[in-house]
Amino acid sequence: MTSSKWITTAVMAAGLGAMVAAAAAGAKPSETKGKYYMLKTCKPCHKAGSKDGEVTPLIHTQAQWKSYFKAGKHGKEELTKYLTKEQLLDLEAFLVAHASDSPQPMTCGG
Ligand code: HEC
Repeated sequence: MTSSKWITTAVMAAGLGAMVAAAAAGAKPSETKGKYYMLKTCKPCHKAGSKDGEVTPLIHTQAQWKSYFKAGKHGKEELTKYLTKEQLLDLEAFLVAHASDSPQPMTCGG
């Protein structure tokens, strides 16, 4: 009785540990989060008509966005000046998913 309870607890603890590990390893990049970061971090400088130029997913193809994030540069500065590496993965997922040659091109609501 007592020992079977122990086993149940041990099995549950192991399962929980695996879930926590999976979450910490970072699940798939999130387009939804990427869109949020775009609106919050990039749009203040890059909305339509802004002097720094409008940036939307449509300004590049999927391949161009991938190499943009691979280079990790925003002009002369690092993209990590604006967002963490993890957040940049989310942003990349969003921009690639809606790039000019993507199945769902879009402008990110202006
Ligand atoms: C503080 C204002 C500011 C913020 C915030 C900002 N940018 Fe920029 N961005 C600029 C300026 C200024 C330029 C340079 C314009 C030029 O000289 O062509 C630029 C240029 C760009 C370019 C064009 C070419 C290049 O590689 O430099 C892209 C793409 C770009 N930004 C994307 C982004 C993204 C994505 C974010 C959010 C992570 C972002 N920007 C955040 C001001 C900003």
